[in-house]
Amino acid sequence: MKDIQLDPKRIPQHVAIIMDGNGRWAKKKGELRIFGHTNGVDSVREALTAAVEVGVQYLTLYAFSTENWNRPKEEIAALMDLLVQSIYNEIDELNSKGVKLETIGDVEILPKTCQNALIDAKKKTKYNKKITLILALSYSSRREIAHAIKKMTQEVVVGKLSSDSINEDLISSYLSTANYPDPELLIRTSGENRVSNFLMWQLAYTELYFTKILWPDFKKKNFFRAIYDYQKRERRFGKTSDQILNENV
Ligand code: FPP
Repeated sequence: MKDIQLDPKRIPQHVAIIMDGNGRWAKKKGELRIFGHTNGVDSVREALTAAVEVGVQYLTLYAFSTENWNRPKEEIAALMDLLVQSIYNEIDELNSKGVKLETIGDVEILPKTCQNALIDAKKKTKYNKKITLILALSYSSRREIAHAIKKMTQEVVVGKLSSDSINEDLISSYLSTANYPDPELLIRTSGENRVSNFLMWQLAYTELYFTKILWPDFKKKNFFRAIYDYQKRERRFGKTSDQILNENV
């Protein structure tokens, strides 16, 4: 972080990342796609270490989308194996760093080995307080919103919830991210400028940072650069610049 001076008072509480470009990275090297994913795990470690270093409290990683189930089944199996291996290899390190592991998404449809590794890791890290690492696995934002609507509707039907009480905060509380603040910063690697069905409700006011760097090349300094870029931005939430300036004097 030597050459990047971050303002410690304006570190985002929650950073979300769409880790993209593993396949292209591997292809450029003449390797199979899984080689890219394997190297992507090093970047996960870098991002997590960097986040802990500057005091980010929640880091959400888009590790597997519902759309990713359409990939060749060999790639899906290799990704799931990689996830299980990574959890078992990293669990002690995660614990020593104070990382609490949580997940969002339809985790119950992942292979049993994967589910067991996650249950185990969540249990072991549950009292850690330094940072919460949220893995989005088999995650779809539209699905999450549809699920929340379904649940609220069922509760209205049985009289547990009044339709008058439905507002933005209540909707947020029915999402899988209910316990986390909305991300202030979203990073997407590999030059794609899309949100791709990731945290669409939660990203309403999030600063978006797109970089051409492919995920396996994304290192700590790139994470710090994204935060630096975020700190240069003025977050107005619909107000004027003058209003924001007056609030800060
Ligand atoms: C996107 O690259 C990446 C993924 C779908 C998987 C991300 C998984 C990891 C980084 C490894 C496992 C994660 C953890 C948390 C241990 P892509 O395959 O879409 O790349 P492409 O767009 O170049 O094809």
